[in-house]
Formats: sequence, C-alpha cells, structure tokens
Amino acid sequence: MENLFLIVAYVLGTRAIGLNNKLLWTNLTADMRHFVRVTKGSVVIVGRTTNETFTRQLIGRDIIIVTSDPHYWPKNYEVTDPERIHVCTSIEAAIELAQRIADGRNIFIIGGEQIYAEILYTESMKPCVIIATEVEADLDGDKYFPPLPIGEYEEVSATPYEKDEENDYNFIIRTFRRIAA
Ligand SMILES: NC(=O)c1ccc[n+]([C@@H]2O[C@H](COP(=O)([O-])OP(=O)(O)OC[C@H]3O[C@@H](n4cnc5c(N)ncnc54)[C@H](OP(=O)(O)O)[C@@H]3O)[C@@H](O)[C@H]2O)c1
Repeated sequence: MENLFLIVAYVLGTRAIGLNNKLLWTNLTADMRHFVRVTKGSVVIVGRTTNETFTRQLIGRDIIIVTSDPHYWPKNYEVTDPERIHVCTSIEAAIELAQRIADGRNIFIIGGEQIYAEILYTESMKPCVIIATEVEADLDGDKYFPPLPIGEYEEVSATPYEKDEENDYNFIIRTFRRIAA
C-alpha cells in the first residue's frame, strides 16, 4: 500500500519493543525527535494497549485507535482535540478510514506488537516503507517486533547515532522498502 508506513524501535538481537506496557528506554531523545518529525502531520494507527501508554494526545496527527470496543475513548490522557481521535474495531477498518481522511498525507502504523504482527503478515495491508530504529541495548522485554517477511523488504538506508547525554544507547535508524511483487 503506497502511502502506508510502519515505524518501530526495537532492541538489536532480541527485537524487544516493550515491557510491562512501557517502552524499554526513557532516554533516547534523538529517536523520539525522529519519531515526532516523521509522523507529524500524518494519520497514525495504534493498538488500544499502546494508546494507553501515552500521557497526552499526540498533537498534529489524526490518531486511529484499534480496539474491539466500539465505544472506546481514551481516559489515560486529556483529549485536547477530539476531532482528531477515531476508533475502529478492526485494522482493515482503520486503514480504510485512514485512506479516506489522509488527503495526500502518509499513514503510519505505530504499534504495538499485535498490530505490527497483523499488518506485516496480511497481504492486503503490507506497508510500503518500514522505518526501524535498532537499539544496541542489552535488554529484553515481553513484546517483540516480528521478523520482516522473508524476501519482501530491502534496506535502502541506515543512519547510525552515537550514545551521548541525551541518548542512553547507540542506535541505527534503518529504512526498508517493499520490493515490488
Ligand atoms: N518500541 C516501539 O516502537 C513500540 C511501539 C508501540 C508499542 N510498543 C510497546 O508495545 C507494547 C504494546 O503492544 P501490545 O501487543 O500489547 O498491544 P497493541 O498492539 O498496542 O494493542 C493491542 C490491542 O489492540 C486491539 N487490537 C489488536 N488487533 C485488533 C484487531 N484485529 N481488531 C480489533 N482490535 C484489535 C485490541 O484491543 P482491545 O483489547 O481493546 O480489543 C488489543 O488488545 C507496549 O509495551 C508498548 O510500549 C513499543
């Protein structure tokens, strides 16, 4: 799907993305800035559990929350821009809605584990670009980013970042593009 992107940060090796419904790191500022910059102005699709890890509404983005509960509404943060919060009861419905409202903007799948796994392995929903931060940390978690489907993505760029006072670990931001079938 041409304007469908996926963005993730996982531990190099274990591919862990979270533990106890939190991210594994608190101080990876350059990666957080990168996330904000690339997703700003877009439509994002997020699982209900990941949405409940946020402490405020992601501003400047439409956010589509995927949950089996059609009456779901975020309670873990103050909704400051209700018109930009949407709820869908399937990933397919979330992508359809995202395509309707995108109006030329990109759509980002932002996790978590369940959503990534369903998206990456369903033919009709595969993202055209995957932006993956590989964090060089000796950490394990309880949620993981699945392996990319074999032979379907090629790496097109890799940018390394050095550990410093704003970033607890070295990391590499890799971009993978879907190989045309
Ligand atoms: N490092 C990263 O880049 C990154 C990014 C995002 C998240 N995370 C981490 O990942 C963890 C959360 O991942 P997770 O797998 O537990 O949760 P998740 O994927 O965020 O959300 C799972 C929930 O989404 C809903 N859902 C999923 N598939 C659905 C479908 N086909 N139809 C309807 N609803 C569906 C269900 O909500 P209901 O139960 O309400 O039905 C399900 O319980 C956290 O630790 C978070 O910090 C890490």
